[in-house]
Amino acid sequence: MLDILIIGSGGAGLSAALSTKQNGATLLVVGKGYPTASQTSMAQGGMNAALGNVTPDSTKAHMEDTLTSAHALCNPNMVKALCEDAPESIAWLETLGVPFDRTKASKVAQRQMGGASSKRACYAQDYTGLKILHTLYDNCLKEGIEMREEYFLLNLIVEAKTILGAIFLDIVTGEVKEIRAKSTIIATGGYAGLYKNFTTNSEGATGDGLASVLRAGGSLSDMEFVQFHPTALRGSSTLISESARGEGGYLVNSKEERFVDELLPRDVVARAIAEQISKGEEVFLDLRHLGEAKLLKLMPQEVQLCKLHENVDPAKELVPIKPVAHYSMGGIDVNENLEVTGLKNCYAVGECSNAKVHGANRLGGNSLLEIVSLGRKAGINASKPKDPTPKTQNRSQLESNQEYIEGLFEEYPFERNFYQEFDHLGKAFYEKAGIVRDNTQLNNLLNELRVLKADLDNMGIADKNKENNTNLVEFLQFQNMLEIGEVVLDAALVRDESRGAHFKTAFPQKDDKLYKAHSLYWIEEHVLQNKLLKVTD
Ligand code: FUM
Repeated sequence: MLDILIIGSGGAGLSAALSTKQNGATLLVVGKGYPTASQTSMAQGGMNAALGNVTPDSTKAHMEDTLTSAHALCNPNMVKALCEDAPESIAWLETLGVPFDRTKASKVAQRQMGGASSKRACYAQDYTGLKILHTLYDNCLKEGIEMREEYFLLNLIVEAKTILGAIFLDIVTGEVKEIRAKSTIIATGGYAGLYKNFTTNSEGATGDGLASVLRAGGSLSDMEFVQFHPTALRGSSTLISESARGEGGYLVNSKEERFVDELLPRDVVARAIAEQISKGEEVFLDLRHLGEAKLLKLMPQEVQLCKLHENVDPAKELVPIKPVAHYSMGGIDVNENLEVTGLKNCYAVGECSNAKVHGANRLGGNSLLEIVSLGRKAGINASKPKDPTPKTQNRSQLESNQEYIEGLFEEYPFERNFYQEFDHLGKAFYEKAGIVRDNTQLNNLLNELRVLKADLDNMGIADKNKENNTNLVEFLQFQNMLEIGEVVLDAALVRDESRGAHFKTAFPQKDDKLYKAHSLYWIEEHVLQNKLLKVTD
């Protein structure tokens, strides 16, 4: 039996794989796509570490900025460990070969991001996440780490609350297969795909790992906290990095007036933009004063994206933008060892998890830090001796998954087109569970979503081919999104206050007495349960 199964081949999964390998464990990395296509590349602007290479900085300041932006929903121990490990994580990436930009003195270059009290984000132009991801992948190949691509996670194998691996759909062959392991690390990314067409995320950010944990008896937490990135291109929702503002870009309205300090945390800036839009203003990113040479040196990708998707040259024209869903702060609930609450021999790391390092609003530049630092930690922890693995080779879960997939080919009538429903849902989430929330609208959407869930039997797939069936994969993703969407909406309804990325017009203040608490969700006897877990100082 394998020592470790890693599900997800983005930055968190690959960092975990490299540290697992160093610990001498046998491992396999499995992903539904290809490693180089993961969401990690969307963290363009940089990775935080208090190196002080450009402006004075300290780990203490990094911690304070992170905690301030998190609005009391962090675990200070986890934040401390993360910030302390940041310089070491950058040094590790350098040894692997990540081509960080350099200062004139040949130190790693650092830039300003929103909510940071210093130039703290280490960067590689505006391709930071992409370069880190590709370097991690190169190193995994060099280490001979085995990977399987196009394996879609169906369910975790669970017995007596112990995870024994997982069951996958092999997308290429259409077969349902199981992979057993002593430990399983889930690193499957976030759930901002719920906001379909109104997110910077790719179509694959469908919360598959979260849904599998919920079905296996584990818990999710703080799911109401979804970060809206202030600057996505208005037409296509393509991300324009925060580094554009970090390097001096302005936000202006139709009158070309600035209306907010561009370097405040993302939740504040996104709300300020939403307010302008609600008043009938258009909002633009103004980079013209930075000049073409600087833009091409520091942000070549952003220049290309503006030209390609919006047909504007940012050196000469205003860039039309809007805020869209970018990052999930909530996720699979884990303890300080990154073990999934309620399950044994199971870890979660990266955007799919809630390690309590981002709280109600993540700082730009901390997501890359999390996936590298905690990814390595997950690999180390998962390599330690485990609770004994049940000796059973019970195949009932595999068989029921096989039957379910067979049933989709044979029984579901495809009377209702789930693609249309998903498009509709994405827009509805953006409008009703977005930057500014209201209980009546949240309730309406929750009812609508439950009706959709109950009608899944009338949807299903039109393409009945076994091999390379993307229609099947997309239907499975849609189901996961409905499960996750229900939790997001319920958690947003329960929290009658405003905190970080969660803002309700009727409750515009933070209410520490009632809601300085993590929202926890799990399934018992087929029914979704929840409670608020108070944060104690
Ligand atoms: O704007 C950005 O470059 C995104 C960075 C992040 O999400 O950390």
